[in-house]
Amino acid sequence: MAGDFNLMKLSTEVEVYASENDLAPEEKKLLDHAKLAVTRAYAPYSNFHVGAAILLENGKIIEGNNQENAAYPSGLCAERVALFSASSEFPSVSVKAIAVTCKVSSVVITEPVTPCGACRQVIAEYEEKFGKGMRIIMAGETGKVYVCNGINQLLPLQFNSKQLKNK
Ligand code: THU
Repeated sequence: MAGDFNLMKLSTEVEVYASENDLAPEEKKLLDHAKLAVTRAYAPYSNFHVGAAILLENGKIIEGNNQENAAYPSGLCAERVALFSASSEFPSVSVKAIAVTCKVSSVVITEPVTPCGACRQVIAEYEEKFGKGMRIIMAGETGKVYVCNGINQLLPLQFNSKQLKNK
């Protein structure tokens, strides 16, 4: 039995582009980098190859891809490989955008790939660190492309450092 409550309805926004060719040139270019990164993914266990590319505020583009391991949980998603790489090389430069895409050998993926929960949490961390949202561009091999303006669209009610009152 429910007690006495108010219902808080949350809504999020996703920009839907019919094809990658409809993206703004800067975002199309970033997706091209993610597509290149897919080709270097190390995914012998899932055969699900993911590529990510990050556009930094200084114009640099950092690529990453999923890195799997025979001890499965030791692997890492493309988004986190790219974000950690960017943060380790340019710790004080904020992230403007991240693009992610995927490829498998057996079929053509026509739906956008969307970041897993752990990657959303890591995106939230860097948005919070720099006080700045990032564009999140999500694509399959073909078909429509989703773009979200900031992680709040993908991770509402997020946990972040503001809640760590000991900070
Ligand atoms: N994976 C990513 O790299 N990014 C995502 O957004 C979804 C999943 C990877 C993890 C694992 O190597 C493989 O895809 C299958 O889950």
